[in-house]
Amino acid sequence: MIQKPATAPGPIGVFDSGYGGLTILSKIREALPQYDYIYLGDNARTPYGTRSFEIVYQFTLQAVTKLFDMGCHLVILACNTASAKALRSIQMHDLPLIDPNRRVLGVIRPTVECIGSITRTRHVGVLATTGTIKSESYPLEVRKLFPDISVCGEPCPLWVPLVENNEAQGDGADYFVRKYIDELLTRDPLIDTVILGCTHYPLLLPKIRQYMPAHITTVAQGELVADSLKDYLRRHPEMDSRCTKQGTCLYFTTEAEEKFCESASTFLNESVKVTKVELA
Ligand code: DGL
Repeated sequence: MIQKPATAPGPIGVFDSGYGGLTILSKIREALPQYDYIYLGDNARTPYGTRSFEIVYQFTLQAVTKLFDMGCHLVILACNTASAKALRSIQMHDLPLIDPNRRVLGVIRPTVECIGSITRTRHVGVLATTGTIKSESYPLEVRKLFPDISVCGEPCPLWVPLVENNEAQGDGADYFVRKYIDELLTRDPLIDTVILGCTHYPLLLPKIRQYMPAHITTVAQGELVADSLKDYLRRHPEMDSRCTKQGTCLYFTTEAEEKFCESASTFLNESVKVTKVELA
């Protein structure tokens, strides 16, 4: 493990339960290529989407602590489930005890901020994990910013396993991609904007585009989160100065290294070197 003194600048940490956060990381690296990053995927314990609040909180806190130990001052939870179920508790209760100068940011708020200017019907759909939908985080955030927008959420429990098992482009994926889209649009036919509220889902985009009606705008989070981070670093020069800038990216996984390497290289279109870590 790379242990650094708490005051030395360090990379930006990006965390997800598995491969999904890579869709966020690649957009962040496009927007902010000069920074150093550490990606951590808890592939051994994915999916988080069907787990309880307590477990997602516990796993996420372990991952954040590990990234802090590796020298990160700023961690992005590139995972909606973790953002929905753990972010607030970590920000309110854990950060003040661990180190009040470190920061953990999520992906839900930057996504919600953009939808007001996209939807015309003011009916928005959210496709996400069961955990994110049950947490009601999207409707709650939308209500705060855009009280006139109604939100309809559809859990898609089979989508993350399809991605994690490298079946996103396989023939078997079609059935479940179509099923959840149809169920959402049957429940609210006025929807004109659909948020992909799980960072794994952009890896299913070719199939999602195939089954999503053409008049609907599909919103993926990568660019929104990247823009929001850029803005955050501009507004917080004290944090920016604590982020190193050599353009590097290190990858860590809790699963077997070969498995991560193979899938991550496919998703990122470049070969990556990865190191196994344990979270506890
Ligand atoms: N990629 C994650 C999300 O955005 C988690 C998926 C899972 O582990 O179920 O929700």
